[in-house]
Amino acid sequence: MAELITSRLSGFHKLPMADRLGTVSRMFRLTLEESNAMNGVGGLSNDTANTMIENAIGVFKLPLGLGLNLQINGRDYVVPMAVEEPSVIAAVSFAAKIAREGGGFTAEADDPIMIGQVQVTSFGDPTQAASKLVAHKEQLLALANSFHPSMIQRGGGARDIEVRVLPAPEGPKGEPILVLHLLIDTQDAMGANLINTMCEGVAPLVEQITGGKVFLRILSNLADRRLARATCRIPVASLADFDLTGETIAEGIVQASRFASADPYRAATHNKGVMNGIDSVAIATGQDWRAIEAGAHAFACRDGQYRPLSTWRLEEGHLVGRIELPLALGMVGGPIKIHPQVQAALKILRVTSARELSLVMAAVGLAQNFAAVRALGSVGIQKGHMALHARCVAVTAGARGLWVEKVANALVTAGHVKVEKAKELLASMMRDEALAGQPVP
Ligand code: MEV
Repeated sequence: MAELITSRLSGFHKLPMADRLGTVSRMFRLTLEESNAMNGVGGLSNDTANTMIENAIGVFKLPLGLGLNLQINGRDYVVPMAVEEPSVIAAVSFAAKIAREGGGFTAEADDPIMIGQVQVTSFGDPTQAASKLVAHKEQLLALANSFHPSMIQRGGGARDIEVRVLPAPEGPKGEPILVLHLLIDTQDAMGANLINTMCEGVAPLVEQITGGKVFLRILSNLADRRLARATCRIPVASLADFDLTGETIAEGIVQASRFASADPYRAATHNKGVMNGIDSVAIATGQDWRAIEAGAHAFACRDGQYRPLSTWRLEEGHLVGRIELPLALGMVGGPIKIHPQVQAALKILRVTSARELSLVMAAVGLAQNFAAVRALGSVGIQKGHMALHARCVAVTAGARGLWVEKVANALVTAGHVKVEKAKELLASMMRDEALAGQPVP
């Protein structure tokens, strides 16, 4: 099957929704149950939801679409994305198409090493306490691993420790903060439960070794040992659009990158665009997107200033985009095995490991960012956004079926995308059609 799969599904967006689902159901051999999960007829049941959280009263739906044209390390990916914001999926698909013409994305990721933190207090001399912990490294690792023998069998487990002495926040007179890090290979799990269990498990030994008292025992969401990276190289000439040369468009993108590197106010918005893509994939694939967000933004601040997660430079006639960020993902645990839509989404995506999923997400983040800065650095984003926003406005004004597109187009032509205007246009268009004796769509 693998060789027949392409993410280049030309004309897909023009198909009726049911035909789009039919196309991917055939392509990825989805069962009826999986297809029904995708279109919301099936999916997460109230009963399952009730076992997942407290005080459950139902399930919450979001639009689910497919990012197309993605090619990463020579392999095609059709990418399920759950998102309420218009233009995110169109932007990723558009950017991936351009990147594809330049050879697609190359991506790679670190081993899945996560950090667990154990905070120690009342330890006396910090240097001595720290060196005692270092001296007991093997004992600490053995104890940590004893809480998860199955992870060792899968090739993971606690691999190393780090001991950090941090200046006291209260000032020079206070006790410094002593932190033990467990570096844990979580394999295909995001790892939160495993890490927390190990941290809690080693705490009594840490107290015994240091003579101190342990307070917090928890993973760090700054997963900076588990980074994913993606790159694309787009020939400058192929960027020409909007009656502008490729050089002009590239210049706008490079200027956007410089702006974000210099200014946290811009970097926050730049990264919001990156996360538009990454979060949408995270939600559709059942990931802990709050953890991903926390990690991404903490990583963006790693040198003391908040900076962009992606950059764009000109290199030998190419626009080269790079992204790097922590991606603590899982293929097991959480809702992954029990949420039917997540299972079907992973079948469409065809990723076989958390690492591979992180490559896809990094490339999607870079693609999303490319589309944003390409528009921002040239014609602006409002033109494209307004066309999509107009559809929501038309629906809010009461338009349904074919009227949605008609009213949306009229709103954009009028240059006035407001609900009141949409109501006015809808009423007058329906009146005109009724007078002309045409069947109302
Ligand atoms: C909107 O959701 C995202 C953008 O603001 C990102 C950006 O400014 O780069 C368009």
